[in-house]
Amino acid sequence: MSDKPVLDRIFVLELVRVTEAAAVAAAKLIGRGNEKEADAAAVNAMRDALNRIEMDGTVVIGEGERDEAPMLYIGEKVGTGSGTAVDIALDPLEGTTITAKAMPNALAVIALAERGNLLNAPDVYMDKIAVGAGYEPGIVDLDRTPAENIRAVADAKGVSPEDIMVCILDRPRHAELIKAVRDVGARVMLIGDGDVAGVINTTAPDSDVDIYMGSGGAPEGVLAAAALRCIGGQIQGRLLFRNEEEKQRAYKWGIEDLDRKYRTEDMAKGDVIFSATGVTHGTMLDGVRALPGGRVATHTVVMRSRTRTVRYIKAEHCLEKMTA
Ligand code: FBP
Repeated sequence: MSDKPVLDRIFVLELVRVTEAAAVAAAKLIGRGNEKEADAAAVNAMRDALNRIEMDGTVVIGEGERDEAPMLYIGEKVGTGSGTAVDIALDPLEGTTITAKAMPNALAVIALAERGNLLNAPDVYMDKIAVGAGYEPGIVDLDRTPAENIRAVADAKGVSPEDIMVCILDRPRHAELIKAVRDVGARVMLIGDGDVAGVINTTAPDSDVDIYMGSGGAPEGVLAAAALRCIGGQIQGRLLFRNEEEKQRAYKWGIEDLDRKYRTEDMAKGDVIFSATGVTHGTMLDGVRALPGGRVATHTVVMRSRTRTVRYIKAEHCLEKMTA
């Protein structure tokens, strides 16, 4: 970390506005069964808000490659074009299905770092393991068995494996992992979607989750790493490839070692700012709530790695004037 901060503190509030705008737009589609529309609304709103910020921004984790995503694609320039050069990882709606079904923990998420400091991860799966703050570096490791990782965390916490809760995405591909976790005596919290929130939950003081395990999107892995850089905790990730085409995509993004194990700071280094606004209600954040008189309430967490400040911001907005 250089002595002179490159990321101005002003970005903190700017990023809050960005995730608030995306969350409010997506919230209009909560429970309407239309994932695509919800995502499109969030993307549009996030892009508009980003383009009002004075910065020379480049999307490095976005909605996909240029030919498959019309907006906020990887490589898209955002911001006014003048000012600090930054890289941006974003997911305007993390939990499209959650939103369409009005289920908990959908978020609008963004992370910003100095140029070159966020991993340009292709949109493939990533094997992940994460724990919250307060543990020795390397306490969990993707190359150890679930039993070994659980026992290590239990020992460090001074509890037995029976007291450890592991959060895992509820997917058939995780059947073996879930069995291994239960066989050692630990408990499993299954989530339908939203592993950025799943990872962050390992850090929340009032959360029941001790460890996050399993595979999910690689872009979400980078976003979760950015959050942990700010709030504390550690994540390891390793890209998973289902076919040759996915491997070629990784090479295209400059990844040379396909088996590399990424630590938190390999995915998000330097100064990082992270902001997430709740779309639907969740364990960490309230969802967007309509208020009388054309107003709407939002709940955001925003944090900075430089100072490790974590701010929760409750805001009320006049819908009509939100873009002013
Ligand atoms: P979307 O918002 O793109 O639907 O992603 C939701 C999510 O649950 C992520 O949090 C997670 O990383 C990924 O999908 C898991 O992928 P899959 O649904 O294919 O298991």
